[in-house]
Amino acid sequence: MAVGLERPQTKAPPTAAPATQEAAASKTILLRVFRHSPSVADDAPRIVTYRVPRTRGMTVLDALLWVKENVDPGLAFRYSCRMGICGSCGMLINGKPELGCETQVADLGTDAIEVAPLVHFPVVRDVATDFTDFFSHHRRVMPYLIHRGNGDLAPVERELRQSEEQKLEYYQFTMCIMCGLCDAACPIVGMDKLYAGPQALAQAYRFAVDSRDEGWRERIDVVDDPHGCWRCELAGSCSAVCPKGVDPALGIQLLKRMVLRRRMRRT
Ligand code: FES
Repeated sequence: MAVGLERPQTKAPPTAAPATQEAAASKTILLRVFRHSPSVADDAPRIVTYRVPRTRGMTVLDALLWVKENVDPGLAFRYSCRMGICGSCGMLINGKPELGCETQVADLGTDAIEVAPLVHFPVVRDVATDFTDFFSHHRRVMPYLIHRGNGDLAPVERELRQSEEQKLEYYQFTMCIMCGLCDAACPIVGMDKLYAGPQALAQAYRFAVDSRDEGWRERIDVVDDPHGCWRCELAGSCSAVCPKGVDPALGIQLLKRMVLRRRMRRT
């Protein structure tokens, strides 16, 4: 699996930092953070090490906030809800795509924690990345119900009812918080900028399989494309890193089956 792709190694600057054993003894962690501002000339990518007081229940996001509030207000990273809902705080933590707010320092089993921006996303500054392409792929699959409806019917008759079974067909995919961890873990996203990616394709499946949706014709060009579902090679890394238990790899394979069935129906 391709989980754990690392940013290029950079030389650590001469910041004062104790050895790991000393940090553990003094109840601190060593937070090694990727720093780089592409918009600033001569600002080379580097790793800066901070010694952070360890507190009970501390998350990696808490540690970054401590640095920002006490050492370097210029440190850039994204977050909002701090409770695993908004999807803003995706980052590489010791080489693995994770949510900073849901990753407890204690669970990492080490006092040396390396934080870097998600791979496959351009760096805006430090750990903050640009999601423009990611959201553009998401929008291209039309992630909403397309229903032509029947304006002649009374509102109560227009109600689109579903059985429990019909709801379960797509329910897990509604849990996606668009954090981008799946795309960061996907080896194909790293090779093919045009690839729709696991997040967008899983959402295409989510709506395509919804009994209320009539948008297959609109989505087919994005899905049934060399950069659509056929580009997936089933590495499975996307599903392995999803913090919400969504299985995008499964969604993409089911999407392939759906495309083939509809093709066969036409012939
Ligand atoms: S800050 Fe919202 S998911 Fe982490």
